[in-house]
Amino acid sequence: MKPYYETGGVTLYCGDCRDVIPALDASGIELMIADPPYSRVRDDAWDRITPDDLIQLLDEVIMSAGKRMKTNSSAYFFCWPPFSDRLTGLLRRRAGFLGHLVWAKRLAGGAPTGFAARQNVRVLRKYFTETERILFAEINPRPDRASYPRRTFHAMKSRYTDLWYYPPVGSASRLRIHNCQKPLGLLADMITISSEPGSVILDPFAGSCASGIAAVQTGRRAILVEREESYCEKGAAWLESFVRGRA
Ligand SMILES: C[S@@+](CC[C@H](N)C(=O)[O-])C[C@H]1O[C@@H](n2cnc3c(N)ncnc32)[C@H](O)[C@@H]1O
Repeated sequence: MKPYYETGGVTLYCGDCRDVIPALDASGIELMIADPPYSRVRDDAWDRITPDDLIQLLDEVIMSAGKRMKTNSSAYFFCWPPFSDRLTGLLRRRAGFLGHLVWAKRLAGGAPTGFAARQNVRVLRKYFTETERILFAEINPRPDRASYPRRTFHAMKSRYTDLWYYPPVGSASRLRIHNCQKPLGLLADMITISSEPGSVILDPFAGSCASGIAAVQTGRRAILVEREESYCEKGAAWLESFVRGRA
């Protein structure tokens, strides 16, 4: 399969990940970062997928990616909180479910985001969602996995907890390509925590290609897949200018 773009150890494919992943000539992938559609949360064409179809899509991704991933490799799935129970069920069936992380989208003690501040509290029936779940799982888990650590330990600057504070990529950000773009700091920490330097990571729903930038920043290689050509074009341009700037 011909890549859409390649640079600095990052290969971007433009297509449906259900077609691209089975055709990949790759093995030994250590980490998957999956940020799929949220299922009708966004008013974008790419988010018009029913919850049942989303589960089916992720099931296919886990099965096909699993054939190219290492034993006890890691996977993170970004997830809109109301969908987390269904995705947890899928991960329990198809992978080794390890836990829920909560991404708090503002720093502790910070002011509410503009959107939160505009909520009408008079008719409050549900709380404004200012967090996102990230489901953490092990792909190809072995029953005797305690004797097969997923990674060698690297001292991190902070403790490992399930509450992650990272400001979102704001609409005014100069580097914003996608309205669900994930912060580079968050992606770089995931990659550093769950893969070894030089290893390959897979992102089946690449959007802006931010995970590819984070892979280059952290000395990993990356395989990215994105279905919408307009995002591939912008993501490839970002990768090119980033890699050139470092040369
Ligand atoms: C939540 S966004 C990902 C944003 C990305 N993490 C970032 O930081 O920019 C989901 C992306 O998945 C893409 N997508 C949806 N279904 C897909 C599929 N079956 N195969 C590949 N990409 C898909 C959408 O076009 C959209 O850009």
